[in-house]
Amino acid sequence: QTRQLMPADIAAMKGGEPVVCLTAYTTPVAKLVDAHCDLVLVGDSVGMVLHGLPSTLGVTLEMMVMHGQAVARGLSQALMVIDMPFGSYEQSPQQAFANAARLMAETGAAAVKLEGGRHMAETIAFLVARGVPVMAHIGLTPQSVNTLGGYKVQGRGAEGARRMIADARAIEEAGAFSVVLEKVPQGLARDITDALSIPTVGIGAGAGCDGQVLVVDDMLGLFTEFKPKFVKRFGELGVDAEAAVADYAREVRARSFPGPEHVFADEVKK
Ligand code: KIV
Ligand code: NA
Repeated sequence: QTRQLMPADIAAMKGGEPVVCLTAYTTPVAKLVDAHCDLVLVGDSVGMVLHGLPSTLGVTLEMMVMHGQAVARGLSQALMVIDMPFGSYEQSPQQAFANAARLMAETGAAAVKLEGGRHMAETIAFLVARGVPVMAHIGLTPQSVNTLGGYKVQGRGAEGARRMIADARAIEEAGAFSVVLEKVPQGLARDITDALSIPTVGIGAGAGCDGQVLVVDDMLGLFTEFKPKFVKRFGELGVDAEAAVADYAREVRARSFPGPEHVFADEVKK
């Protein structure tokens, strides 16, 4: 593949090869993941992962613009999707369009992602009708942590499952090109995947989804404040980085760094 993927290309992957997704927040990480991913998400998880915020609620549109611009510079193949932060889209379809347009215009992202099911369907339809491809996000929606009462598995019980399937159908009907399912029991995620004609991208939702997404710093072992059950560490870069920093500190204190190969000779011998 030589051209950058479009939302329609992701939608067309339904029922085929799994959709491979990771987050990225910086140019070097975007370059690292680009060739291996179909979709790269500039997630509002950036607030917790790179800015040390306690939740995603404090993430601003300005932060998303800045990280989106950085990621765009590193991508040439994967589709770039950017999260709409808390407070930038819930008030009205008009508010959502104005802020989505700003994110797309200032970063070059070809699509936005927003959290919510049936109650966001009108907004999703409004955006799609005006040129903004939308990826939806249901199940555990971290921007609603305060009303959900914690980062719990969603869709429990017959009623919970029924409501989530209704959310998924409403999102598809509204024209979303894909939907993230976060922290959903695997059987329910499979049922939703079977019920929809758009790809489901799971995080903590089992292998039955049409694709998977992880926070890149989680899977690299760089973000170690906590580890949700659904995270698999494919690397331990945090451990490696700590060892490197410890080596550096030891060598500076021992005056063994810098060595002869790192220094510049004096022009005139004294
Ligand atoms: O912000 C984020 O990284 C996300 C993914 C975990 C889906 O929304
Ligand atoms: Na997010």
